Amino acid sequence: MTKKIMILPGDGIGPEIVAQARRVLDAVNEHDKLQLEFVDELIGGASIDAHGEPLTDAAVASARECDAILLGAVGGPKWDTIDRAIRPERGLLKIRSSLELYANLRPALLYPQLVEASSLKPEVVSGLDILIVRELTGGIYFGEPRGIRTLENGEREGYNTYKYSESEIERIGRTAFEMARKRNKKVCSVDKANVLEATILWREVMDRLAPEYPDVELSHMYVDNAAMQLVRAPKQFDVLVTGNMFGDILSDAAAMLTGSIGMLPSASLDKQGRGMYEPCHGSAPDIAGQGIANPLATILSASMMLRYSLGFTQSADAIEAAVGKVLDQGLRTADIYTPGSTKVGTREMGDAVLAALYQN
Ligand code: NAI
Ligand code: MG
Repeated sequence: MTKKIMILPGDGIGPEIVAQARRVLDAVNEHDKLQLEFVDELIGGASIDAHGEPLTDAAVASARECDAILLGAVGGPKWDTIDRAIRPERGLLKIRSSLELYANLRPALLYPQLVEASSLKPEVVSGLDILIVRELTGGIYFGEPRGIRTLENGEREGYNTYKYSESEIERIGRTAFEMARKRNKKVCSVDKANVLEATILWREVMDRLAPEYPDVELSHMYVDNAAMQLVRAPKQFDVLVTGNMFGDILSDAAAMLTGSIGMLPSASLDKQGRGMYEPCHGSAPDIAGQGIANPLATILSASMMLRYSLGFTQSADAIEAAVGKVLDQGLRTADIYTPGSTKVGTREMGDAVLAALYQN
């Protein structure tokens, strides 16, 4: 059975880093006889330039026929001044909502070789391995009504709506429990139930699901405390599950605990486990075209794709082991460089991962 993968390089460093991930996928495809097929499409500024919109309906239709999507990143100064409705990021929102990619998985894993890159003390972060499960298609980022209105006294007021239905909470809750089952069997649900009614319901639904996962320990934490605990003692967490806005903020904070945004993959899954995989970082226009971007976040995203959407666990393990090996060899792109290590560019890093694959 062939598996179809859509490749969306996007803008800025996107095409450079996706090219390296693609080489790695080609290698495992051949070695492990995975029968992967690739479909190339445009997204973001690249699509605006070609089609006048950040993602065409035809591209979405084609994505629906694929088993998984690998994305680089979108956006850049070239498109910053165009109409909001057709900005590059709209392409991302369109694909997430069209495919109902509601579960955003953001691992924060600190490679032992990169402990020094973290802003925290080695004893606080070494061995860090947490997974933030962020609800991605609901909550205050999508809630209606929203807008800026003029009040009777002539003053303007901005407003948004924070809401989650029971079914929305339940499906993201189940994702979290199931992920914890494959990990260290702890889920911490993050809310603001002392202040926000919407999150009182969130907490209630999580408690209701818990008995179905007796092997997983559920705890609750207010988001302000969670922010504090993430920088105080992050290793207490295994899986953190939370709504769209809290998840946006906490996952970026957790990402920084690992020192480099160039190392962090992410996944956004639908109900069937089909997903879009992408590095956590953006299109890095400041270094685009220089061949110095770190491709590892994208290569690790490809590995997550093999693991979570395609079921090719061994190939995913092989890629992750290869990344570990190149770090052991002391190879570093500029973003993770420390004195004494060997500075390499995007393509050389890709070469090194390829060389380390399936080599004992
Ligand atoms: P960014 O993540 O692109 O860059 C932040 C900093 O990290 C920059 O100094 C950049 O050079 C560095 N960096 C990022 N990825 C790197 C990599 N792989 N290797 C080495 N260094 C790396 O965030 P920024 O600057 O806020 O946004 C730039 C553009 O990207 C904007 O147009 C923004 O809208 C877009 N963006 C797109 C995202 C996506 O496609 N999912 C997510 C975040 C931002
Ligand atoms: Mg963010």
